[in-house]
Amino acid sequence: MTDRIENYIDQNRNRFIDELKEWMRFPSVSAQRDHDKDTRACAQWLVDHLKKLGFDARLVDIGGQPIVRASKKGMSQRCVMIYGHYDVQPEDPIDQWQTPPFEPTIRDGILYGRGATDDKGQVFTHVKAVESLLKTEGQLPCEVVFLLEGEEESGGDALGRYVTQVKDELRPDAIVISDTTMYDEKTPALTYGLRGIIAFEFTVKGPGTDVHSGAYGGAISNPAMTVAQILAQCVSPEGKVLVPHFYDDVAPLEDWERECYRKLNFNEKALMQELNVPGLHGEPGFTTLERLWARPTFEVNGIFGGYQGQRSKTIIPSSATAKISVRLVPHQNPDRIRDLVFEHIRSVCPKTVRLELNQFGASPPVLFDVNNPIIRASQEALRRGFDHDTVFIRCGGSIPVVNTFVEQWGCPVALMGFGLDSDRPHGPNERFSLDSFIRGTKAAAYMLRAI
Ligand code: BES
Ligand code: MN
Ligand code: MN
Repeated sequence: MTDRIENYIDQNRNRFIDELKEWMRFPSVSAQRDHDKDTRACAQWLVDHLKKLGFDARLVDIGGQPIVRASKKGMSQRCVMIYGHYDVQPEDPIDQWQTPPFEPTIRDGILYGRGATDDKGQVFTHVKAVESLLKTEGQLPCEVVFLLEGEEESGGDALGRYVTQVKDELRPDAIVISDTTMYDEKTPALTYGLRGIIAFEFTVKGPGTDVHSGAYGGAISNPAMTVAQILAQCVSPEGKVLVPHFYDDVAPLEDWERECYRKLNFNEKALMQELNVPGLHGEPGFTTLERLWARPTFEVNGIFGGYQGQRSKTIIPSSATAKISVRLVPHQNPDRIRDLVFEHIRSVCPKTVRLELNQFGASPPVLFDVNNPIIRASQEALRRGFDHDTVFIRCGGSIPVVNTFVEQWGCPVALMGFGLDSDRPHGPNERFSLDSFIRGTKAAAYMLRAI
């Protein structure tokens, strides 16, 4: 039967999209204190929206950005928790947006705006799925709890702390998350692994102020050059991390995974075109998918120091900084890897400069067993929603709180993402296909019904 839910979703499609646009207009940039009011208003909008659907919904304040908590009982005793985040990344570079980041706009069936795919558009599929179930069947098939955070994008720990507090009161049987991607625009996917992350910066300090490069060049270390030399000792030209013992705890791929990735028949040419690069690059001995999903990396996110203006200025800069993110895979431990990396940087840094190391945040990698009922239910729900078989993938990105869920509740987690890497999350002109939004809403409804 093409069912009443599908009809309901198709008939209300335009209203769903208008509501999502309304929610996306709040600039809920969690990293920027100037936007704290907007971030809160964004969370409150969703609380009010869920209340109208009959949810017991409220904001939870425990320091940091508010958490949206909402629940509604259903036919069975089972409890499904839906996690997502309503905060977004800063909009910059603002001049590269074709239409303003917080004025969501549709072009050719695609919704453009900050948060379209990461993560408001994806969260909203679940909101509209529960609405559709309630309006067509009168009640939910199981208890549904929304737990949405407002500081996923800025390294906050409010939700992690809250989960530890309510660990015994809220005992979900399963957690569903839509904050990842499909394999490609036609192929829905379940993500069974996330990389972990360590974010830090180091600053090399030389003379007390910028000094003349003729008067002093040859007599002292140049901090910008020292930063470059340290980095060159962290990663080989081929892309292998040179920190001693860095790979000691990396779990090798299992045979089924290698076979599964091979069958996906990844198109490297298409990736080169998408990114407009003349070639791909990474740790030797592994395929591109293996390097993206199952191997750790050391990336420079930014490098600063010295004169940045027009023409030339002959100085030795007083200091230089590199910002780094290290992506981790099972079974690397963030604290141990941080110690190894910091120790390595200290040991290769010359004694003729001063070094400062600053850690911002860390979260462990996660890997799920794919043999459980919630994964099977989600697999089938995705197949129906997208009219296409579901594949298993991992994700190169990180969702820090997921590890806390695993530690505190240990229940099965299904990462069913509806986005695409090419949706430009975090970048200018972030977008989300409206077809995926609607199909995702159907899949989310089927998933709850199957539990
Ligand atoms: N939704 C992303 C995670 C993600 C990244 C999924 C790439 C699919 C592909 C999440 O919002 C995110 O951006 N996470 C950050 C975490 C960091 C700020 C601690 C990340 O991965 O950089
Ligand atoms: Mn996200
Ligand atoms: Mn993100």
